[in-house]
Amino acid sequence: MIVVTGATGVLGRMVVENLVRRAPDERVVALARDPQRAADLADRGVQVRPADYDQPDTLRAAFDGADKVLLISVPVPGVRLRQHRAVVDAARAMGASFLAYTSVAHADDTPMPVPDHERTERYIAESGLPYSFLRNNWYSEVYLPVAGQAAATGEVIGASGTGRIASAPRADYAAAAAAVLAGDGHENSVYELSGDSAFTKAELADLVSDLSGEPVTYRDLPADGYRDALVAQDVPAPEAAFLARVDEGIAAGGLADTPGTLARLIGHPTTPLAVTLAPAVRA
Ligand SMILES: NC(=O)c1ccc[n+]([C@@H]2O[C@H](COP(=O)([O-])OP(=O)(O)OC[C@H]3O[C@@H](n4cnc5c(N)ncnc54)[C@H](OP(=O)(O)O)[C@@H]3O)[C@@H](O)[C@H]2O)c1
Repeated sequence: MIVVTGATGVLGRMVVENLVRRAPDERVVALARDPQRAADLADRGVQVRPADYDQPDTLRAAFDGADKVLLISVPVPGVRLRQHRAVVDAARAMGASFLAYTSVAHADDTPMPVPDHERTERYIAESGLPYSFLRNNWYSEVYLPVAGQAAATGEVIGASGTGRIASAPRADYAAAAAAVLAGDGHENSVYELSGDSAFTKAELADLVSDLSGEPVTYRDLPADGYRDALVAQDVPAPEAAFLARVDEGIAAGGLADTPGTLARLIGHPTTPLAVTLAPAVRA
């Protein structure tokens, strides 16, 4: 039995759909805070169970009979380490034999402002549960609003300098997670998962220009200036500060690695950035 957490989230739903296609004979269980929102998955033969990381009682029942587990990281920094630990504890207590975790690129040595991933990885490793760390690079979809705005304003702003971003769309990461969950021999593995190629924000501007047919330039700012520019565009101050720190991490090379592991796991090249961004630019 394969249990997938966060199944009403964007990535979780894709993983469950992948597993149903890839391993039709496997029993797939989808965990959801609100099972009603996973009714379509239940219609397709997936067992949907309620699970709230803030209510540990729900977790034990959720992992009853679990063999393999996918823990999809929680969106909210700060609280999520406690929530991840609750999931690991419950999976282990209920006898799971394998836990995959969606982490971040080079979690143990990253300049990106996401320390919860390294702490979660350490907690999992110390739990004794056989694991696979799926160290996802950034989602290409992160740049959908950036591309849409750039097409409208003719400008991409940032503070990432010549730092490169090896993003891939969620669908590719979901396919990799399903391959690991449905396959064998992934115990105690660490996979650095990223797109086959990486782009700078200046190249992102060039791409939006190519897709839109209009001139688009990149304006590189100091991190504080980028944060202030985002606030001036009505981005909430904490999010603007986070995004500025993300760009500092990109400038330091945190998302640049392209080892080709994602393509190898999914069995085909990763989806080019242009394919993900084209609809937003044309809209
Ligand atoms: N690599 C990147 O570029 C990038 C970008 C953004 C996020 N991320 C990370 O990747 C994760 C998955 O991405 P996504 O797009 O699928 O995110 P998402 O759509 O926000 O999904 C997050 C899932 O976590 C569930 N969840 C949150 N709090 C919970 C709780 N207390 N108990 C049980 N479930 C809870 C949500 O449940 P509900 O459906 O009930 O809300 C949802 O199913 C994110 O959570 C974040 O950690 C990575």
